[in-house]
Amino acid sequence: MKHNWNPLSWKNKKALHQPIYEDLSKLNKVIARMKKLPPLVFAGEVRELKCELSKCVDGKGFLLQAGDCAESFAEFHPNYIRNTFRVIMQMAVILSFASGVPVVKLGRLAGQFAKPRSSPIENKDGIELPSYLGDMINGIEFNEFSRKPDPERMIQSYNQAASTQNLLRAFAYGGYADLSTVQNWNLDFVKKSKQGSNFKNLANRISECLNFMNACGVNNHSVRQLSETNFYISHEALLLPYESAFTRVDSTSGDWYNVGAHMLWIGDRTRQLNGAHVEFCSGISNPIGIKVGPKTDLSELIEVIKKINPQNEKGKIILIIRMGAKSIEKLYPPILKKIKKLKLNVVWSCDPMHANTEKAKSGFKTRIFRNILSEVKSFFKIHNILGIYAGGIHLEMTGQNVTECIGGLQKISDKDLSSRYHTHCDPRLNASQSIELAFLIASHLKKIK
Ligand code: PEP
Ligand code: CO
Repeated sequence: MKHNWNPLSWKNKKALHQPIYEDLSKLNKVIARMKKLPPLVFAGEVRELKCELSKCVDGKGFLLQAGDCAESFAEFHPNYIRNTFRVIMQMAVILSFASGVPVVKLGRLAGQFAKPRSSPIENKDGIELPSYLGDMINGIEFNEFSRKPDPERMIQSYNQAASTQNLLRAFAYGGYADLSTVQNWNLDFVKKSKQGSNFKNLANRISECLNFMNACGVNNHSVRQLSETNFYISHEALLLPYESAFTRVDSTSGDWYNVGAHMLWIGDRTRQLNGAHVEFCSGISNPIGIKVGPKTDLSELIEVIKKINPQNEKGKIILIIRMGAKSIEKLYPPILKKIKKLKLNVVWSCDPMHANTEKAKSGFKTRIFRNILSEVKSFFKIHNILGIYAGGIHLEMTGQNVTECIGGLQKISDKDLSSRYHTHCDPRLNASQSIELAFLIASHLKKIK
């Protein structure tokens, strides 16, 4: 266990992107209640995830981390969770079939409610109000009452995360993830499209393999992995009062674990070496992601990695690279080379979303699918040239048929954005774009093999 660390030691450091709660006694009462709430995950599962991630360091696994930019209280429905789960499973099958390695399924789900914002103030028609910071903190409606941070929202987020996690567990272990039902994962609105038929062809090949294996005596009764899967949850460790309330000592190992998610990540805006978020994450045993954007100072990043992972444990650190389609070829190779030279064990994961956000002519915040593909292609190309394994992908997507990102085989245009633009924060890939991207990544994984 780390010296001088405790779940509240972050309070001695500068904590960026935290709300100011006016009513401190209400905040303290909420924290006291949260400390008694049951964990969402068990430390043994976190250790299992770390073991799976360790394989993504040296080419024996691939990480698929995907889900909402921001979950919301309004967009909470079992069908949404089911559809997102189905698309993640489809993507995992596509990637696994191509690469021949197991895919680690990690949802940006069941707790992804707090957001760092580029400005603390939003200005609309001359009226200024505090920005929306995610449903865990305040409301999206543009009025003074809704924008006031309310601690009670942390409890509501926990409750929603708990029921989301409950359903995900039921899907993952209750037969929904059974490979013999792979045909049924295709969503109705994707079925008729090119991606839908590509997926159908793949599903047919998988069914043939399963039939053959069954003839050899291997089937979902004899092998657990054919009928169920591990499905993990993650979110950004941003709102520190929430995160510390869900940080507990595991009775088996005596170590500290955050029990609100299997994996947590530190955002690009809060990864300062001497900041509160790095301090907090340095004491918990969960795998930790670190976002790496264009402004990253390489020597500081190296110190952050060493602070969080002093033992250089495999599967502990995931570097989530988000440089942007235009900058990745210039900015990324020096980082990759240096960390390789230092022999720091990390999973290299590509986030082609966060540095490719732009404002469309219509005024919507969007991402151009072509740029997303381009960053992914560059990422794999750079890894190939340097002979370092590209171990994962980090995406904002949903199983809903939304129109938030421009392009893809559905040819979503700027004009289409307004028809089904539902995100509470950043634009997400819809089911069809997600599957299209999975096939593209699969083609790169095949080349590497
Ligand atoms: C996010 O992942 O939603 C996010 C805010 O990313 P970043 O910290 O990379 O900007
Ligand atoms: Co986002």
